[in-house]
Amino acid sequence: MAEVKLTINGKQITAEKGQTILQAAKANNIYIPTLCHFEGIEGRANCRICVVEVEGMRTFQPACVTKVSEGMAVNTETERVRAARKATLELIMAHHAVDCHHCMRIGSSSEQSLDPKFCEMCFWCDCERDGFCELQTLNREYHVDVLPYIQHEHDYETDDSLDSVIRNPNKCIKCRRCVDVCGEVQTVHNLSMANRGRDIMVVPEMGKPMAESACVRCGHCVDVCPVGAIYMKEHKDEVIYMAHSYEDDVVAQLSDDVLPELDKLYKLEPGTIRIGQVVSALHKIGIKNVVSDEHAAFLAAQQAAEVIDKKLGKEPVIITDSSAVMNFVDRYFPEMKGQISKYDSKQDVFGKLAEEFKGEKRLKTVNVTNVKEAGAEAKETGNVDYAINARELYRIFMRTGGAPARKNVCAFDKSWNDGSLPYAQLLKSKAWNLESDPEELAVLVDGKPVKCAVAHNLGQVRKLLEGDYKKYDIVRLMA
Ligand code: SF4
Ligand code: SF4
Ligand code: FES
Repeated sequence: MAEVKLTINGKQITAEKGQTILQAAKANNIYIPTLCHFEGIEGRANCRICVVEVEGMRTFQPACVTKVSEGMAVNTETERVRAARKATLELIMAHHAVDCHHCMRIGSSSEQSLDPKFCEMCFWCDCERDGFCELQTLNREYHVDVLPYIQHEHDYETDDSLDSVIRNPNKCIKCRRCVDVCGEVQTVHNLSMANRGRDIMVVPEMGKPMAESACVRCGHCVDVCPVGAIYMKEHKDEVIYMAHSYEDDVVAQLSDDVLPELDKLYKLEPGTIRIGQVVSALHKIGIKNVVSDEHAAFLAAQQAAEVIDKKLGKEPVIITDSSAVMNFVDRYFPEMKGQISKYDSKQDVFGKLAEEFKGEKRLKTVNVTNVKEAGAEAKETGNVDYAINARELYRIFMRTGGAPARKNVCAFDKSWNDGSLPYAQLLKSKAWNLESDPEELAVLVDGKPVKCAVAHNLGQVRKLLEGDYKKYDIVRLMA
């Protein structure tokens, strides 16, 4: 790859030809704020927060789409640049339903005001992103204390028709991240921009409510939305209440997939929070029984293995534990439905085990996992009482003061020794990604390599179901 030399803030750096200023800056640990940009998706320069000065150019350039060139001199933190970013934030705020600004802490720079726990202790504002909203963070960074422009209050109805993935268009900042993820990565194309000018907004298919739209409830738009405009319905109050109830026994299944997100939310280095600390923090908020998800993973994998063993060599083996994949198949590949074997998710297994063990007790179940579709799955199947993700867990800890502490480490309340996971290479937990091609792998069955593919997003699922599945012996589909 050809290289170019440029300076950023007077520092000489080398970048790859074709890289954006933002990519070159990141590679050299130079911070440029962003809002609409999402790593891995091509930028559209919608928000202009990332603007920088490029010597010789008369206007500010958005760093997320402007390519580096030989001899370029870039300044990212001049007074003019900071003033332009602040003005942009003020304009964005003029069209944002600001639940949090009235507390006067948003633009303030004091140490106390920056501590998100003060937000969580406050009951005035209950925005689902309070404490980790990207817009709120930038307002703090740029001291947006007062809102100089008239608030263009929209009064759109909150779309809670799904009771899981909820849309509040009044908070949308039109960054289009959700549209790109739903369309380009998931290939569902449920979300799009409608209207013009200040009435521009994100709408589900043909302006229908979410429950009647093409949404397959994968939950990835929730994850990428930088503000509280699309969110997974929260149950933090119900979980806190349940944990303190004398009538109910509560059992939580905890997955270690929440740890990377918890590190991020607590602004810690990756790998800092350990699972035992989260077990201890869950005990502290009143949940007495916390079990690992490893047993459920083992039982679910056993089910998948049975299907594989029965079908391998006789017909294409296509397996999934995802209800979002099944919703996607229902809508786009109904003719393939009979060929796909659905096995239980870890959440299904947990719910069934709890049902078996509860006897006369009033047993309530909470699945703590960062699987994006888990909230919608709980709502639609009722397999557990609640599914909470890392963000919700963080907000529960903030509200109850039960943060994972370094010294408080507990073992799980019950552990099983199941031995090794069948078809581990194929069936172990795998993360969603933005790639367009599925992962290919060779798994040894009776000493012979078997060709397998794993889809890590719905775009890859589409590719496989359109015919590529025929190239493989076993295909695993994830949303
Ligand atoms: S949940 Fe998934 S399918 Fe539904 S709108 Fe969001 S990204 Fe699209
Ligand atoms: S709903 Fe969220 S992700 Fe989608 S355009 Fe609005 S602010 Fe951006
Ligand atoms: S992050 Fe570059 S324009 Fe929005």
